[in-house]
Amino acid sequence: MSDQIIPLPATAEAAAPVPGTNPNTRKVFIKTYGCQMNVYDSVRMGDALASEGYVTTEAMEEADLVLLNTCHIREKAAEKVYSALGRLREMKKERAANGREMMIGVAGCVAQAEGEEILRRAPAVDVVIGPQTYHRLPEALKRARQGERVIETDYAVEDKFEHLPKTEKAVIRSRGVTSFLTVQEGCDKFCTFCVVPYTRGSEVSRPLSQILDEAKRLVEAGVREITLLGQNVNAWHGEGPKGEAWGLGDLLYRLSEIPGLARLRYTTSHPRDMDDRLIEAHRHLRTLMPYLHLPVQAGSDRVLKAMNRRHTAQEYIRLIERIRAARPDIALSGDFIVGFPGETEAEFEDTLRLVETVRYAQAFSFKYSTRPGTPGAELGSQVAEEVKAERLERLQALLLKQQHEFAEGCVGKVIDILLEKPGRNAGQLIGRSPWLQSVNVDAKSSQIGDIISVRIIGTGPNSLFAERIER
Ligand code: 5AD
Ligand code: SF4
Repeated sequence: MSDQIIPLPATAEAAAPVPGTNPNTRKVFIKTYGCQMNVYDSVRMGDALASEGYVTTEAMEEADLVLLNTCHIREKAAEKVYSALGRLREMKKERAANGREMMIGVAGCVAQAEGEEILRRAPAVDVVIGPQTYHRLPEALKRARQGERVIETDYAVEDKFEHLPKTEKAVIRSRGVTSFLTVQEGCDKFCTFCVVPYTRGSEVSRPLSQILDEAKRLVEAGVREITLLGQNVNAWHGEGPKGEAWGLGDLLYRLSEIPGLARLRYTTSHPRDMDDRLIEAHRHLRTLMPYLHLPVQAGSDRVLKAMNRRHTAQEYIRLIERIRAARPDIALSGDFIVGFPGETEAEFEDTLRLVETVRYAQAFSFKYSTRPGTPGAELGSQVAEEVKAERLERLQALLLKQQHEFAEGCVGKVIDILLEKPGRNAGQLIGRSPWLQSVNVDAKSSQIGDIISVRIIGTGPNSLFAERIER
């Protein structure tokens, strides 16, 4: 999953105090770091707190509770948390001087990975709560209010989803016409660079009935597009109505039958779990958008092996060919790591070659970052920082060129877009293309949620421009 820092539009929308609510209501500010799964979790944590009387706020200064939903994927992401906690400590001191309480909670993957260490390094923290235990957040806060420094990072035996409150339909509606839905969590792949199997635990799929209930609820509240989430989403497995074994392909077929659900996506996938049924879903389901995030990480077979990816570059390329044969207009996205321990210049060039062969519409690329506790951290021959930086620059230049070429290739095309939110100029909306691009078009705000036909007439740095056409 990509891991830009994501502010929290979703809960912020729900933050508007309901008229007539108690002005003394507690306020929570949630800051989300990392991937889409964390965005989803922040929304659910906000909902769990709402049922305890908290409203979410976008202004940290007015929050009674500041909750950091953290990311541990790379060193930088984890460091950001500690520097944020340093600032929060000062804020808490000032508050205390004015006789006002402020609580600080750390959730997410840093909480899971560092647990006690957070309490030691950041004395202002009241609660540390992991990604599998956040249904216990209201209870943890109660204990913290009684003076305990709470740490909840065990892998709970109970299913958090069973214990979380269902989101109110009015709240879902206020969040817009697209939504995430977590269907799978954790990972058993153990790529040697990755902390996910340790922070999110082993692979667990949510049962079909739970997913269908949540999807129907979202659609009844006006959601038109759902993105299924999982660290290894295409490893999702469950039981069909007759007890038969189902995979993600089957789940997508079933979700496509929900009336009113216009679009489906899923992320993030592992090449080894792209099975025939899933590829068939791309061929047949018009609801399944032609976009696939399929990380490869590197293009050298030796590096792939050292990363424990368990496929070769050629196998990945052949897989892409099969997917493109099923859905020729599919846009591909990927993740890449440069400077994995021992990576030579020639091996890095294999990555460039693979990118040239595949042609990506979108991609995320990173310098290898040593994560304590992973097998990669034990390897010698770490690549020098300057070498990593230089390789990253070359790779990103190539990926950016491909991204522009893809966008340019859209000009002149007639496509359907889902109108999502107000645009920058009055009288304009931003819609989403099948390939996940933002598209600016003249439209009325009453049309949000509609799918309309447009012709792409130009490209901007991060979006496309379109004109409406009648079809
Ligand atoms: N160093 C750099 N990048 C990493 N990723 C995961 N672990 C590391 C690491 N230790 C990248 C991978 C993954 C994405 C979510 O983050 O490319 O697909
Ligand atoms: Fe990490 Fe590999 Fe699992 Fe992805 S598949 S979450 S990179 S261990």
